[in-house]
Amino acid sequence: MTVKCWGSAFHDTRALLGWIRSVRSQKEVLFLHVNDGSSLESLQVVADSSFDSRELAFGSSVEVQGQLVKSPSKRQNVELKAEKIEVVGNCDVKTFPFKYKERHPLEYMRQYPHLRCRTNVLGSILRVRSEATAAIHSFFKDNGFVHIHTPIITSNDCEGAGELFQVEPSSKMKVSEENFFNVPAFLTVSGQLHLEVMSGAFTQVFTFGPTFRAENSQSRRHLAEFYMVEAEISFVESLQDLMQVMEGLFKTTLMMVLSNCPEDVELCHKFIAPGQKDRLEHMLKNNFLIMSYTEAVEILKKASQNFTFTPEWGADLHTEHEKYLVKHCGNIPVFVINYPLVLKPFYMRDNEDSPQHTVAAVDLLVPGVGELFGGSLREERYHFLEQQLARLGLTEAYQWYLDLRRFGSVPHGGFGMGFERYLQCILGVDNIKDVIPFPRFTHSCLL
Ligand code: 4AD
Ligand code: MG
Repeated sequence: MTVKCWGSAFHDTRALLGWIRSVRSQKEVLFLHVNDGSSLESLQVVADSSFDSRELAFGSSVEVQGQLVKSPSKRQNVELKAEKIEVVGNCDVKTFPFKYKERHPLEYMRQYPHLRCRTNVLGSILRVRSEATAAIHSFFKDNGFVHIHTPIITSNDCEGAGELFQVEPSSKMKVSEENFFNVPAFLTVSGQLHLEVMSGAFTQVFTFGPTFRAENSQSRRHLAEFYMVEAEISFVESLQDLMQVMEGLFKTTLMMVLSNCPEDVELCHKFIAPGQKDRLEHMLKNNFLIMSYTEAVEILKKASQNFTFTPEWGADLHTEHEKYLVKHCGNIPVFVINYPLVLKPFYMRDNEDSPQHTVAAVDLLVPGVGELFGGSLREERYHFLEQQLARLGLTEAYQWYLDLRRFGSVPHGGFGMGFERYLQCILGVDNIKDVIPFPRFTHSCLL
């Protein structure tokens, strides 16, 4: 244990400030474990019997002053010999939803989004989330990408799926009978189109922020509000180049997370997904595989008795199909490329391969989750893009997007990675609601 967890840098380090994680009372001494959330480790506090153990309950917040001494126990290097213990806030253990020494299922904890972060498991998940966020930023910085804040409120539906939350002022705040923005405005489903604008000036850009989808889904991998890591790269002419960045992002940040917070990752694996460490090593040491959508459908058709949805060329891949494909690939992540044009949004680059007519799209499927990344080469050719927009009746709305092809257009491409799905994949968490502090999904917006 390091002294690091003994009060954070912003507090007087002569005092330990935190929450009691355990209380053990012996004849003459009292042992407390106090945690301040900065790491998984709690500091052991040793107090003599003059302190009233009834005051010092599991869950209470305390300030402890004393001497940091070498611990006689092998379990920790140092302990705090208490001279003064002050209860900052009592905790009523009878009604506190978490009990000392009890292992609470993640599903139970979900009922208490305001308190579950005090448990070891959620504490570890959320610290890993914080480390992973830093790792992703550092990956892009190290590779020369410029970070862009793309807007949360937008007038476009990038994915064209109509899964939009509309933004309007509350009735009290109406500025006029008109819309606040004069046009319908929505919470963003993706920052891609704004990133494309920026890649036309900065070459390599990324964004990492909340995105919103009104998907009526209770699935274990969909949220109404999730974080997406998106990158856009100019002068990219092949999916191969894009896939290299995607694989690099996944592997490099995973290695950073494993080395920066090993205790938290280990705790998650132990309680949630035993054996997950080996599965991650397997993913790290193998090159990701590549197959075309057409090959994927052939493989699925041969196993169609296993599925609820019959696999068919021209139809979307369902989660059950994606999971099967990953298993079929020996649990190595697999890129599926070149999807039918009709399945994908207007901006994807036409492969001009009639009669199949596919686009240069790529999805990365990973064990336990299925689709983790979605990306493509973008249609940089003015006339092709114009045709797609006309087919969908979007020409007027996307004049500005056509302008990008009119003024210094370049071949380019990009991708988006669902951050919660990434955490699910590395921690082995089955339900996406357990890797975000405050999950929002159909019929639920607690707090
Ligand atoms: O495949 P999607 O829809 O791709 C895009 O939005 C592109 N515009 C991204 C880009 O190229 N810049 O979403 C990207 C990823 C998915 O692969 C998935 O991991 C995640 O975002 N995702 C969700 N995660 C949680 N809840 C949802 N409702 C999600 N929808 C997509
Ligand atoms: Mg997708």
